[in-house]
Formats: sequence, C-alpha cells, structure tokens
Amino acid sequence: MESYQRTHSCGELTAADIGKKVILNGWVFKLRNHGGLFFINLRDRFGVTQTVIDDGAPERLRGAAASLKFECCIAVCGTVRPRPDSMVNPQMPTGEIEVAAEEIVVLNGCDTLPFMIDEEETQAKEDLRLRYRFLDLRSGGMQSRIALRHKTAFAVREFLNGEGFFEIETPTFIKSTPEGARDFLVPSRIHKGKFYALPQSPQLYKQLLMVSGFDKYFQIARCYRDEDARGDRQPEFTQIDMEMSFVSAEDVYSVTERMMKHVFKKALNVDLPTPFPRIPYAQAMNLYGSDKPELRFDMTFVDFTEAARNCSFSVFRNAVEEGGTVKLLIVPGAAEAYSRKKISELEETAKIYGAPGLAWMKATENGLEGGISKFFENDGSVSAGRLGFKAGDLLLFSAGPFKTAVTALGAVRLRLGKDLGLIDPNRFSFCWINDFPLFEWNEEERKWDPAHHMFTMPKEKYLATMEENPGEVIGDLYDLVCNGYELASGSIRIHDPAVQKRIFKIVGFSEEQAEEKFGFLLNAFRYGAPPHGGIAPGLDRLVMIMAGKDSIKEVIAFPKNNVMASPMDGSPSPVDAAQLKELGLSVTEKEA
Ligand code: AMO
Repeated sequence: MESYQRTHSCGELTAADIGKKVILNGWVFKLRNHGGLFFINLRDRFGVTQTVIDDGAPERLRGAAASLKFECCIAVCGTVRPRPDSMVNPQMPTGEIEVAAEEIVVLNGCDTLPFMIDEEETQAKEDLRLRYRFLDLRSGGMQSRIALRHKTAFAVREFLNGEGFFEIETPTFIKSTPEGARDFLVPSRIHKGKFYALPQSPQLYKQLLMVSGFDKYFQIARCYRDEDARGDRQPEFTQIDMEMSFVSAEDVYSVTERMMKHVFKKALNVDLPTPFPRIPYAQAMNLYGSDKPELRFDMTFVDFTEAARNCSFSVFRNAVEEGGTVKLLIVPGAAEAYSRKKISELEETAKIYGAPGLAWMKATENGLEGGISKFFENDGSVSAGRLGFKAGDLLLFSAGPFKTAVTALGAVRLRLGKDLGLIDPNRFSFCWINDFPLFEWNEEERKWDPAHHMFTMPKEKYLATMEENPGEVIGDLYDLVCNGYELASGSIRIHDPAVQKRIFKIVGFSEEQAEEKFGFLLNAFRYGAPPHGGIAPGLDRLVMIMAGKDSIKEVIAFPKNNVMASPMDGSPSPVDAAQLKELGLSVTEKEA
C-alpha cells in the first residue's frame, strides 16, 4: 500500500508540474469512455484532477479503467502532461494539466450509490441524504460549508484569543435547572433514581467563572434542548458562548461587532459595516412586527390605530375599542399584480400567525378600490398624503390585539419580501434589538415568565419598583439579528443575590425552590461576585447565514432530522433490558 501513497493532492498539480511522475489518491468522480480513451476525474477534499488512459495503453490498465465504479477509492500513478488546447479548463486550478495513468489500484470498491455525488448539492430527499450522510458530505456544497464552518470557528478563536479571552470547557453533565426549554436527561447508574441534565447552554457555569475571576471567557459549546426541530433549530447545537466581567452592554456590543467583522473578513472576505444599527424591541414590533426584523428591504408598517378609532369599518373600530392596534403595510406598485387569489394567499399567512384575516384595498388613479375601500369612501383617514402611498400600491391592514396584529402582518411582510424579490441574497443585514421587557405574561399559567432568562439585570431605573408592574420593566438584554434570524442573545447579569431573589419571586419561585434549583449560584454570588455580562451567538445559525442557506442542517456534519432522529445510526434506539436494570429504570411507554 505504501507505494501507492499520494505524492500530491487532487487539487494542486499545475503546468509547473508537467513531466513529473506522481501518485494521486481519491474517489472516482466522473468517468468517460471516448471510444477506448478513458477519462477519470479523481476527487479529494482539495480538488479534482483529470487522469487519462490512452487508447494505446496496455490492456491490463484499460481493463482496470473499464471496471471502475463511481466513488470507488483509487490510486493512480502516472505522469503529468499538458491537456490538449481544446480541453484546457481555466475554471479549474488543475485545468491546464492531466495525468497520463500508468497504473490504477483500487484501494476500495463502491456499492451502487443511493444518489450521485454532485459538484454542488446532492439531489435527493432529506432523509436519504441523512441516512447516507457520509456520502452526502462528499458533495461540493457540503464540503465547502463544512470548510466555512471550520474557518469561522477558527476566526472566532483567533479573535477572542487576541482580545484576552480564555477558552474554558464547562461540564456537559449538569444539574437540571429550569432554563426555558426541556432538558435532555442522563440517568445516573451510581445514584439510582437521579439524573444529570445536558446543558441547554453553559449559562450558570460561565457566570461562576466570572466569580472565579477569569474575567473574559469563551467556549465553542455544545448545547442541548429538547424542543421541536425546525429550520434554524436542532436539539444539539453549538454556541460561541462568551462572558466578561466589569462590562456594560456597550462593551458587549463592541466586542461582538468586532468579532463579526473579523470572522466575515477571514472566512468570507466580506467587509461588514459596523456599528450595527440598534432598534428598541418596541420599535421593531411597531415597524416590522418582529423582534428579528429582516432589514434587507424596507416596507415598514404605518400605524393606523388612531385613524381607525372612528372609521365606519366595525372590525377596525372594535379592535381599537378593545385596546388593540391597526397596522397598515403599503406594498409599492403591487396593486395590479396582486389578484384577489394572491391576496387570499397572503391572508392565509396572516392566519397562521393568529390573525382573523387581512383587510386590503388598492390605490388607483381613480381612488381606493376593492376590499374594504367602500368603508373609506367618504372618510379622509386613508389619505395618500398622510399615509404615504401612491396610485398602484396595495394596502394591507391587520387589526387586533397588538402582538397578534403586528406578528401576522410581519409574516405577510416577510412573504412579500420573498415573493417580490426584494431580498438581496448577497447582503448581510445586522442589527441589535435591545430594551426588551424583562418579563412576559404567561396567560395559560397566569404568571410572569422571564422573557430571556432569570439572570438578566433590570435596567437601573426599574430596579427599585420592579414588583409593582413587572410588565413594564425593561431588562439590560440584547439580541443580535441578521437577515431576519436571531443570531445571538445576551444580557448584563444580576450579581447581587438580593436582586436575584426578587426576580425568582416575581417569576413564582419560592425561596426554597430557588435555593433547591440555584442554591449553588446564589451561594457563589455571596463571595464577591463581580458585575458581569455576556452573549452567545449560535455558531450553526451564523454559518448558515454566511453560506446563504435556510436550514442549519446544511452546516452541521451529522444533524438530526425533523423528528429528532438520525436515519444513519438509527438513534434514538431501544436499549437492552440489562442496561435499563443497571440504571434502575423501566420503560412504561414505547413508540408505536
Ligand atoms: P439563547 O437561548 O437565546 O441564549 O441562545 C443563544 C443563541 O443560540 C442559538 N440557538 C440555537 N441554535 C440552533 N438550535 C437551537 N435549538 C438553538 N437555540 C438557541 C441562537 C440563539 O440566538 N445563555 C444564553 C446566552 C446568554 O445570555 O449569554 C442563551 O443560551 O443563535
């Protein structure tokens, strides 16, 4: 075998190597037989090289070439020579040369492929791709995205090291604490009936590292959350987890912006403009109907609530009387293109987000037409001058309780952005969303929940009186958003045990419960905990956005499918009765 070890990769031979005897190792990517002249394109991670078996080659060699299958792993020994002029391919780094094969050795054969390996993307259904992920990962698209992921993680480490951060690992078997999503549990064999949890994030540990005086911490950390998978979510994922002592939100903004700038430059050669714009949460909801606004196109909402208060359309009037909102989305020049049918498709989108409907009218040279226009004929409230529309525009309205009305119209806005081709796929549009409420009302359980997590500091001015009206308290927390995705979340943390206890109380934790769940953190805070804060950008989402994809599965080597299973290794799977017994467990319910 040793004698067939490669002398070069499949991506490096050029005209400068002409005349050299070489050995290449790789996979049979393309095979052509031109009347006895064989072309074998050999591929490895570094590129593709054309190898040739001439028609005059010995029978032994021609026989070997004829029996090759796609994707078998071979060694080719031969001599580098120039390609005939007509076959020079300036697009390929190896496009000037070919290797005239003198020997072919099959290192390993290949069964019939479930799908062809593509230069770009594998053309197969997702479950088949995941079942044969080891093959899917050979495609050009997956290879370049995994390379991008590596470059991104490397650039992150390079930057943070330069800023004086220490990379510190935290445990993956931890105490189960309420942190938002459901925990994955690991049963203990030694302590029967007890469980570890896999961390939803290293949150508490990174705060403890601040108490320990490490000052600047980061970790490219695996996190585990038992929540439904969707495009930008996986049950196990990776965060660029960061924490710093003696900082304000401004410091976190600054270091994150500089890190993104460094990473985009190093991994993509893109210059990101900084600082990123900042949009308070309330404004984001008012203008875009989302706390992760897609800013690659404009089309912000116009508030129609006051105008609707006395209008003759009862749906709007009632919404306002009940304390709700009416928002207007002006879609420039879309009146003609949007038929009743297309508008009802938009309405379906609004309904998915809880809106009862989507009201509309069209602005024409002759005034308002269609939809709800008849209610506004003798009413100056829908005035082009005041609301900022012109003839040819489509007007869409959403009315109801604030959050439902704006969220539904936000979804419609996003759909229109895509349908009308308003989104430039080559742009990266970042913004900070800040001034979030600290608490969210949980109607089902009739209690306050933390909007981010329980360790976030309220803004100074709310501190004294936060119990009086928890709904009004603004937290010192921030999200980083890019192209309509929440890329990162973070906050300035509570370091005072007294404040932490008050927060626990507001979210309905008794002192005993708080002590039981978070006693170790509260205890640590009693020993000179420094003021601290941090952030955690999701690495998967970051690379997904950089790669222009809309699913994080495209940037994870071995992701789970949409029902949290791995079609490749068959996990999750039943375990032996003996294993269960050893853990002191018995299974009472099984999947059908
Ligand atoms: P949060 O829960 O907002 O904050 O998570 C931070 C970032 O992690 C990514 N993320 C995910 N990515 C893929 N799949 C998932 N299931 C998933 N869940 C989250 C997102 C998100 O913005 N400890 C805090 C951070 C802090 O306060 O420092 C935390 O985990 O990109």
